[in-house]
Amino acid sequence: MSFRIQPAAPARPNRCQLFGPGSRPAIFEKMAASAADVINLDLEDSVAPSDKDAARANIIAAISDIDWGSKTLSVRINGLDTPYWYRDVVNLMEQAGERLDQIMIPKVGCAADVYAVDALVTAIETAKGRNKKIAFEVIIESAAGIAHVEEIAASSPRMEAMSLGAADFAASMGMATTGIGGTQENYYMLHEGQKHWSDPWHWAQATIVAACRTHGVLPVDGPFGDFSDDEGFRAQALRSATLGMVGKWAIHPKQVTLANEVFTPSEDAVNEAREILAAMEEAKAKGEGATVYKGRLVDIASIKQAEVIVRQSEMIAGG
Ligand code: COA
Ligand code: MG
Repeated sequence: MSFRIQPAAPARPNRCQLFGPGSRPAIFEKMAASAADVINLDLEDSVAPSDKDAARANIIAAISDIDWGSKTLSVRINGLDTPYWYRDVVNLMEQAGERLDQIMIPKVGCAADVYAVDALVTAIETAKGRNKKIAFEVIIESAAGIAHVEEIAASSPRMEAMSLGAADFAASMGMATTGIGGTQENYYMLHEGQKHWSDPWHWAQATIVAACRTHGVLPVDGPFGDFSDDEGFRAQALRSATLGMVGKWAIHPKQVTLANEVFTPSEDAVNEAREILAAMEEAKAKGEGATVYKGRLVDIASIKQAEVIVRQSEMIAGG
């Protein structure tokens, strides 16, 4: 129970975040032309150490030179355990144009990690007289990150989104897999000799969703590594959407359509939600708090469930 109203997450479409290495500027125009809601230009793990300087320069130029339309434009900096991150922040904040929307901080392990980046960003924003306040998104991809997930979600007013990074998370947790998301062969229940596969990412995802929803942050599912497996991607994305996540990363352009399909409420789902709202209006007019819709109970909680779907659909249509 809480008398406080749950804060709304930012009302922006975040169905797909398309990644591309900062060291591969030839694909930047293609990223801008894609149907992804969010673009993540990468300075971290898809860029070799010897390419970090060039990647920074490529990204800073592209932020101003390319027409990114109405997309959320984000740059993933290097982790705080590297010698690169401060230079990423300083160069971006001093040299990149105002079109930059967001900085993604990887491998966040505690609220102080976000505080450190916030302090640097705030100082440069003020020194340079930047008008636009840079938003933050973070990746939960370590044991420490998931252990401190709620304080991380609450760490800064700049916080807008939080992703689960399956590969680094699995490594940090010591999980016996090299898969990046999706079904894991050895994670099954046995019932009467039949194997039933469970979802090893479920706990981390649900924990992230709870932290995000408590603090008004968008929960996002991270990468699905096997980009030849469309059905596997779709199954993982459907599970994430069912748990309350709003979108998923694409590490190859072919995953953008798949993510957009799953995270855009279907016409049927929106129609049903509107019918539930109409049924409840009728019930309310009769002074009733509950009624029957297609043979099942709907009540005042159903209004909130239906509103989630209608609001998401209207926000996407409007954005
Ligand atoms: N964004 C936009 N376009 C991309 C793209 C991306 N991330 N990756 C590839 N493309 C383009 C290619 O240039 C090619 O275009 P063309 O048809 O005009 O020639 C087309 O999509 C098909 O590419 P394909 O040959 O299948 O892939 P590739 O071998 O060029 O690249 C990857 C494959 C995985 C290396 C590449 O997609 C990639 O770098 N992904 C992002 C990795 C990343 O950022 N990781 C960090 C987050 S986990
Ligand atoms: Mg990672």
